[in-house]
Amino acid sequence: MTTYSLELRNLRKSFGKTDIIRGVDLAVTAGERVAIIGPNGAGKSTLFNLISGRLAPTSGEVLLNGTRIDGMKPYEINRMGLSRSFQITNIFPKLSVFENLRCGVLWSLGYKYTFLRFLSNLDDANERTEELIRQIGLEKKRDVHAMNLTYAEQRALEIGVTIAGGASVILLDEPTAGMSKTETSHFISLIKHVTVGKTLLTVEHDMGVVFGLADKIAVVVYGEVIAFDTPAAVRANARVQEAYLGSSVADAQGAGH
Ligand SMILES: Nc1ncnc2c1ncn2[C@@H]1O[C@H](COP(=O)(O)OP(=O)(O)O)[C@@H](O)[C@H]1O
Ligand SMILES: [Mg+2]
Repeated sequence: MTTYSLELRNLRKSFGKTDIIRGVDLAVTAGERVAIIGPNGAGKSTLFNLISGRLAPTSGEVLLNGTRIDGMKPYEINRMGLSRSFQITNIFPKLSVFENLRCGVLWSLGYKYTFLRFLSNLDDANERTEELIRQIGLEKKRDVHAMNLTYAEQRALEIGVTIAGGASVILLDEPTAGMSKTETSHFISLIKHVTVGKTLLTVEHDMGVVFGLADKIAVVVYGEVIAFDTPAAVRANARVQEAYLGSSVADAQGAGH
């Protein structure tokens, strides 16, 4: 049997009497980049909350590398190798770029080692932190407080913090929100670069970005995944066109409305 990097089995979530996630099945292979698209309110962020442990499912299963994680706490899931970033930036404003990243690195070392081994690994942590700074292109901002970075730099730092712990599965919820076209394209290549070899799930609205980034696209409409396939297949899927994509796909292909 194949072990997937991330697997959702008949996942459901209700708030009160309202069914928000209505039986989602999804199996993501290790190293795949998946874009999650769908109208506002479809349940994309809720899906991420269920996967990352912020919300408990009403029923169904979530498996990370073959292990059930539904019902676990967010930090437990994080330590099992899944890391997410938020629509709202979650970096420490009064710590420098270096310090923010090193927090993330130390967090991942902290539980693996006894205190003495932990101390002897500080050099490793510092080295890994410097490497992260290079990866996200903030060498010149190494000692600048996070609050004094530009918006795009803060988002880059947040990606750095998200991957700092070495997670194998990364969830990004609308990472390019609020960015200009130029910032977006720069940022997407950064995301591609730093997630090489990792499994990536990202919620994204910009269809140009989606088709450029994703190996596969999951289309979420009204709490269900109505399609999960390659960009070409999703583009050609009649049900998707009908339910959601039509005009957006035309936009991405430059055909206008
Ligand atoms: N904690 C909550 N309590 C009640 N309703 C919620 C909660 N979180 C989300 N919802 C509802 O679930 C639906 C899906 O929301 P969300 O997952 O944020 O959608 P998306 O990210 O696709 O825009 C929305 O109708 C939203 O109002
Ligand atoms: Mg959302």
